[in-house]
Amino acid sequence: MSALTESAAWRALTKLAAADRQTTTTARFEQDPDRARRYAAEACGLYLDYSKQRLGDDGLAALLALAEQQQVRGWIDRMFAGDVINATEQRAVGHVALRGAAAVMGGEPVAAAVDGELARMYAFADAVRSGEWRGATGETITDIVNIGIGGSDFGPRMIWEALSQNTLKPRAHYVSNVDGAQISLILCRLDPAKTLFVVTSKTFTTQETMANANAARRWLTAALGDAAVARHFAGVSTARKTTEAFGIAAANVFEFWDWVGGRYSLWSAVGLSAIIALGPERFRQLLAGAQAMDLHFRDAPLDRNLPVLMALFALWNNNFLGAASQVVVPYAQRLHRFVGWLQQLEMESNGKGVDRDGLPVDYPTTPIIWGDVGSNAQHAFFQLLHQGPAINPVDFILPIEAVHGYPDQQQLLIANCLAQSAALMRGKTAGQVRAELIAQGLSGEALEAAIPHRVFSGNRPSNTLLMPRLDAFHLGALCALYEHRTFALSVLWNINAFDQWGVELGKQLAREVVAAQADPAAAAALDPSTRLLLERVSAR
Ligand code: F6P
Repeated sequence: MSALTESAAWRALTKLAAADRQTTTTARFEQDPDRARRYAAEACGLYLDYSKQRLGDDGLAALLALAEQQQVRGWIDRMFAGDVINATEQRAVGHVALRGAAAVMGGEPVAAAVDGELARMYAFADAVRSGEWRGATGETITDIVNIGIGGSDFGPRMIWEALSQNTLKPRAHYVSNVDGAQISLILCRLDPAKTLFVVTSKTFTTQETMANANAARRWLTAALGDAAVARHFAGVSTARKTTEAFGIAAANVFEFWDWVGGRYSLWSAVGLSAIIALGPERFRQLLAGAQAMDLHFRDAPLDRNLPVLMALFALWNNNFLGAASQVVVPYAQRLHRFVGWLQQLEMESNGKGVDRDGLPVDYPTTPIIWGDVGSNAQHAFFQLLHQGPAINPVDFILPIEAVHGYPDQQQLLIANCLAQSAALMRGKTAGQVRAELIAQGLSGEALEAAIPHRVFSGNRPSNTLLMPRLDAFHLGALCALYEHRTFALSVLWNINAFDQWGVELGKQLAREVVAAQADPAAAAALDPSTRLLLERVSAR
């Protein structure tokens, strides 16, 4: 047994989980009419209703005791102090510094460098947006193409799609996949003379990104010549020399630092494509919202602290109630990229099998994170959430005010969101089903046969997060909330959220396969299955 699962706080939670089977959330509401009001917390305009979680005051107290035992507060302080908390890579963790909530990383002052780079990005964005920046033939830029993958794609793409409006210019496009189908579909609609590429890669060595960047450069120079690269390419990286070797003019290269993890990087120069497309003011508001959440996370008591509370509920569901996964359903079409961003954030951070000391964990770490926007999701996978045998807790995210001109539809959207969480909690008993079916005229064998298929067990946990509206400030706060939830979970599980060694082996083997594609003799190094597959592929 690990120290964590043997600890007093963990054992107390195990006992409470056994007792949980004897009650339901609905029964808890009956015992405590004030529960909806008491089981809620608010920060930065975000209102978290956790009254539909499967726990009572004793469970909450036991979870908070675990947070104390695991020194959540101390780890938060260490992150904001810029300590080297990413031990396996010997790095500080500084996304909070990008939002002005910390000023020193790894003992070095960083605020001036952060502000300086932001100022350069804003000036560049203003120049492109105003038309002062021209392409090689004197045309203004109408289209920005970000080329990057993982953290160098999900974040800026998600905020662009969440905050852009149909009329906004310039338009942003995102190329991530090494499958040439993606870049070809985008480029065929663009005019090289009016296109600006932003090559975004922390390392500037990522195979997929380099392949797409080379393809883009070929497309551009075929139309406008080699000299055009300086007016049509910008670079975002921690590796300035490599960007220059690619041919990007030094003045168009925007830096960030090794203490910014890829999946935590949208606040850095990685956001450049979105800054150009959305304008600096929206990005400032995004940073302000994230900073407000940073300060809340740093300062609020744990029992009112949104990221900590959400981490505790996730842990309770995952480690004690046996939840199969974590579902996230934003009721906002504009957040349709949010779950993709969150998947990398959470699963690349906390998909770990050893603790901070390198010892195997004997408890589940992150569950699979999945979801899609409501109301579409109701017509896809909600059947499983309501009647599948496993518990899949849901985070419902609901911006209240519409940012479009269809208020009636917003009312319907809200109704659907609230109804789904209520249905998951309340369920429907066999008695209720029976009464309904009898009222519809069913009886006898047909009635008995129909009942089990229509019963909902209920008692299925969810959070509801209300936001006033989907604007840059509240989106910043929402993203920071999930970032900090991820970190708090890693502290509770005693794992390092900030490395990602698990992605390395696949990259290494891809290089071996590439070598074998070029030289059949190199295929001898491959395993028999991969070798045979490659032979079949190569024979076509
Ligand atoms: O998927 C692995 C990873 O290293 C991510 O952590 C990162 O976001 C992505 O690749 C892209 O890396 P880079 O920005 O260096 O191209």
